[in-house]
Amino acid sequence: MTQVFDTVQEFRKKRDEAVATIRQKTSMIPDALLILGTGLGQLATEIEAEIEIPYQEIPHFPLSTVESHAGKLIFGKLGGKNIVAMQGRFHYYEGYTMQQIVFPVRVAKALGAPLLLVSNACGGLNPDYKPSDLMLIHDHINLLGDNPLIGPNDDHLGPRFPDMSEPYTRSLLDLAQKTADSLGIHVHQGVYTALSGPMLETRSEYRYLRLLGADVVGMSTIPEVIAGVHMNMKVLGISVITDECIPETLKPVQLEDVIAAAKKAEPNLTRLVIGTLAAME
Ligand code: HPA
Repeated sequence: MTQVFDTVQEFRKKRDEAVATIRQKTSMIPDALLILGTGLGQLATEIEAEIEIPYQEIPHFPLSTVESHAGKLIFGKLGGKNIVAMQGRFHYYEGYTMQQIVFPVRVAKALGAPLLLVSNACGGLNPDYKPSDLMLIHDHINLLGDNPLIGPNDDHLGPRFPDMSEPYTRSLLDLAQKTADSLGIHVHQGVYTALSGPMLETRSEYRYLRLLGADVVGMSTIPEVIAGVHMNMKVLGISVITDECIPETLKPVQLEDVIAAAKKAEPNLTRLVIGTLAAME
């Protein structure tokens, strides 16, 4: 695919225009950017919202096309921390470029957010994982076939060749695990892989992904995490398992099943996110 990239100057102009528009509405310096995955928008209702800004009011923000995503930034308090939450995220399969997908992460960092807290709905490849289980992401395998760092590098944002030895911040992973334990919420720790979608995968692809070392599979998260790591943000990723991707017992999956399983997991996800935010320094 031929790609057209913004120059560093064009990117900075777009980002600064988005930041300026947001700054006309709020002076909040977020402690974290929270990205809510498919079927996980309920968590946003727990935020003591100060202001909500629809994506269409922010210059250069892409617009959500998937029905299950609402499409706004919510600024407010969650777990005693200042949060900017993305209700509705952008997927590669919708046709957005990687640069568009991570634009909100770039904007959040420019607003001062040092932390990216990202959630997603995913399929479970590990036979121990059941629908509505939670998994703390401790590593990922990028099989999207693209990434947001290809193109000109803005050296003021981050290095040309970012290190990926610990994309998910170990201390936050430990804190989230401790929080889950103290709340009595069972969580797995595992490896997330992302494919472009939008189709789910074949039995043979699930077998292959499992062989590679992945515990869950989805279609998101990795671009935003790469951009976060590039900008030296701390990252915490939480996956909600919505269906079982076991080749021998695979059953057809509908979007409604995925959303129902995500909904069922939401109370635990909400408690875990709020508890972890509250426990952060
Ligand atoms: N693949 C399989 N099952 C899923 C996915 C996926 O990408 N996302 C949610 N359930």
